[in-house]
Amino acid sequence: MIARGEVAVPGDKSITHRALLLAALSDGRCALRGALAAGDTRATAACLRILGEREGPLGEGRTLRVEGRGLRPFRAPRRHLDCRNSGTTARLLMGLLSAHAFESTLAGDASLRRRPMRRVADPLTQMGATIRLSAGGCLPATIRGGSLKPLSYDSPVASAQVKTTLFFAGLAGGVRVTVREPVASRDHGERLLRVLGARVRIEGTTVTVEPVERIPAFDGDIPGDISSAAFLLAAGVLAEGGELAVRGVGVNPTRTGFLRALARMGAPIEQRDRWLSLGEEAATLVARPAALAAIEVTPEDVPSLVDEIPMLACLAARSQGTSVFRGVGELRVKESDRLGLIRHNLAALGVRAEAEGDTLWVEGAQTPPRGRVRTAGDHRLAMAFAVLGTVRGAHVAIDDRRCVAVSYPHFFRDLTRVLTRG
Ligand code: S3P
Repeated sequence: MIARGEVAVPGDKSITHRALLLAALSDGRCALRGALAAGDTRATAACLRILGEREGPLGEGRTLRVEGRGLRPFRAPRRHLDCRNSGTTARLLMGLLSAHAFESTLAGDASLRRRPMRRVADPLTQMGATIRLSAGGCLPATIRGGSLKPLSYDSPVASAQVKTTLFFAGLAGGVRVTVREPVASRDHGERLLRVLGARVRIEGTTVTVEPVERIPAFDGDIPGDISSAAFLLAAGVLAEGGELAVRGVGVNPTRTGFLRALARMGAPIEQRDRWLSLGEEAATLVARPAALAAIEVTPEDVPSLVDEIPMLACLAARSQGTSVFRGVGELRVKESDRLGLIRHNLAALGVRAEAEGDTLWVEGAQTPPRGRVRTAGDHRLAMAFAVLGTVRGAHVAIDDRRCVAVSYPHFFRDLTRVLTRG
């Protein structure tokens, strides 16, 4: 295939969730350009409406308008808050609801109902919220919020969802929150809070957010999602010719582990045309075909490329040598058991792969991958294996292509647009 042209990917999912929620807590009219209009962020918007918020429709290419109503804006909901497939929606909302003095219930689809929620419920309970989870520590969750105490918390997992949840609880509850992580996770929440005037202190992997009196209304551009761009960039690297540019992609260093990994594999990605908005830098990223070498990913690398491991594992399948991904146990509790399914699907395509404990091994090969892939409705598995299916001689059938709607509704359109047969 030849990968050619210039595309823009949809807005960053993590930043859209955070901007939408902070806009609701602001004290005026906010305008967000480039917000992600996809299943996960629509889940957050729908929950906000049930909680009495007013925001304009979330649509591709549309400016999202949100009418903030102060630090504790929610009204008691009359029905369950359905977070659908979105872990970020469930966890971040749990933080905000912990500071509201009413009872609410968070629900989700079958995938979300198997994801661990104690990692946020436990520290929120320490702050003073009452949270009831299912026997396995999952959704549905019933939250009774109220006045909160300050928190200093050692998080056992490096998770930006945990960190942001606790900071948001602190903001709505008017108390200081400190979170220590084993490895620093993505810092979109901290950046946005700083831009909005909050005092954020960072010492190594310890972050403290002081309470604020108000969040001013804000406007800004949300950059494209590097986790979505990763699939197109990988298609550009696996191609046999051409040059593919992805415009306006967020290049926050806590998210660019995928670019660093590609460079180590022998496929440097060029960056140009930088701009800055809402404390986040964006750039055009340019991918060119490359012969790939195997890679070793360490536990310290993982938070900055956690969502890109399915794509990296598929790239490893086309590399020279055996790649190893260490410290990737968190993948078992993402939208699917990603670790198990990466191994299963690579094997189904004739690639040797093993997953044991927290480690994944993938043996590179040049024989074309052929077979059927099981996604379990996981968007990132569908996209990663679709890209692997673009190499010469490949035939990769994906059991569910529609699940990409969660983060990148027009993925298949964009992928076919940039690829032509060489
Ligand atoms: C996210 C953080 C990551 C990531 C998820 C979005 C966020 O999860 O996998 O897709 O917006 O904070 P963890 O931080 O829990 O690993």
